[in-house]
Amino acid sequence: MRLLLFFIFFLFSGFLSGAERCHPSDKTALLKYKNSFANPDQILLTWHPDFDCCDWYGVQCNETTNRVMGLESSVQLNGTIPSVIADLTYLRTLRLRKNPFLVGEIPPAIGKLTNLVSLDLSWNNISGSVPAFLANLKKLWFLDLSFNKLSGTIPASLSTFPEIIGIDLSRNQLTGSIPESFGHFQGTVPTLVLSHNKLSGEIPASLGNMNFARILISRNNFSGSALMFFKASKTSDTIDISRNNFAFDFSKASFMEETLVELDISHNKIWGSIPSRITDCVMLQSLNVSYNRLCGKIPSGWKMKYRSEPFDNTSYLHNRCLCSSPLEPCKN
Ligand SMILES: *[C@@H]1O[C@H](CO)[C@@H](O)[C@H](O)[C@H]1NC(C)=O
Ligand SMILES: *[C@@H]1O[C@H](CO)[C@@H](O)[C@H](O)[C@H]1NC(C)=O
Ligand SMILES: *[C@@H]1O[C@H](CO)[C@@H](O)[C@H](O)[C@H]1NC(C)=O
Ligand SMILES: *[C@@H]1O[C@H](CO)[C@@H](O)[C@H](O)[C@H]1NC(C)=O
Ligand SMILES: *[C@@H]1O[C@H](CO)[C@@H](O)[C@H](O)[C@H]1NC(C)=O
Ligand SMILES: *[C@@H]1O[C@H](CO)[C@@H](O)[C@H](O)[C@H]1NC(C)=O
Repeated sequence: MRLLLFFIFFLFSGFLSGAERCHPSDKTALLKYKNSFANPDQILLTWHPDFDCCDWYGVQCNETTNRVMGLESSVQLNGTIPSVIADLTYLRTLRLRKNPFLVGEIPPAIGKLTNLVSLDLSWNNISGSVPAFLANLKKLWFLDLSFNKLSGTIPASLSTFPEIIGIDLSRNQLTGSIPESFGHFQGTVPTLVLSHNKLSGEIPASLGNMNFARILISRNNFSGSALMFFKASKTSDTIDISRNNFAFDFSKASFMEETLVELDISHNKIWGSIPSRITDCVMLQSLNVSYNRLCGKIPSGWKMKYRSEPFDNTSYLHNRCLCSSPLEPCKN
């Protein structure tokens, strides 16, 4: 089987047709990278020194410069992210996902890859902290460290990415609160995903400055108010603050009439009533306010464009005294 694979690769690799594109220093770095893992032969079968590294599986070269600009793990890596990765100085996208045997910490070498626009280390078994040196990556658009074993607090410096459009730190074991600096992103940060961690405390009021397209912070232990996310002037499409310890008056919330698609505030201690202005959200498709302390009449007259059915009772169950359709009629 291995021989056959080599043979097929040989035929298609352009090996016969002449000059190697791969830059020698990129090739040296990639071979060191490969050999740093416990299973180099098994996992990186096509990474043979005789072949052009621009043809190696998971390696992408720039068409003009032939420098390595993309690296991904298409097969499972066993070991830690090696420091030699810093030698791939032209790397723009690094995508090492779904490697259950990729362990250890995020090495300082990652902070030297200052051309990175996308860093995806999700679904590994990486531990240690979310390093503050990630803030060195000034060109980063997208950071995904979800589904790992990261612990400690979120570094305040992550708010200094000038061009970031999405941060996902969900499904880790992060503690502490959201840094106050997250209300002062230099970039726009349309998406912030911090669900399934051990974050706690109040959301800093400064976050009201940000216009998150999507904010997902469910399954933490945040307390106090989340009203800063509910302003008519914003253009959020998803707000999920479910399964926390939030306690605030929901009747004070405003909604993004033109953009809100999904709202989940379930499993908190939120009180007050459901404001009738929520029915003006034309894009709304999903609503869950269950398991709170809400009271009063469920609004009617929804103006939803993309949902023909009103929400059923599972959207409203287990509150203090919500009434009217689809629950029991209100008593006068
Ligand atoms: C990973 O490498 C270690 C040795 O470093 C070995 O004991 C283990 O079996 C390997 N696991 C897999 C899945 O390759
Ligand atoms: C390839 O490199 C050239 C020269 O540095 C650059 O202008 C171009 O944007 C790069 N291409 C990609 C797809 O990044
Ligand atoms: C991380 O390793 C543990 C064993 O230590 C394993 O059970 C788990 O599936 C791994 N996680 C992932 C995301 O692969
Ligand atoms: C959640 O936070 C509250 C304080 O707001 C605290 O009393 C409670 O013990 C915390 N729960 C967990 C599971 O940490
Ligand atoms: C919810 O509605 C379903 C029918 O749509 C009904 O069978 C069920 O009893 C209701 N549950 C409660 C708790 O009201
Ligand atoms: C709302 O959340 C509750 C609790 O997690 C869940 O049981 C229910 O199915 C959800 N309903 C909808 C419509 O999402």
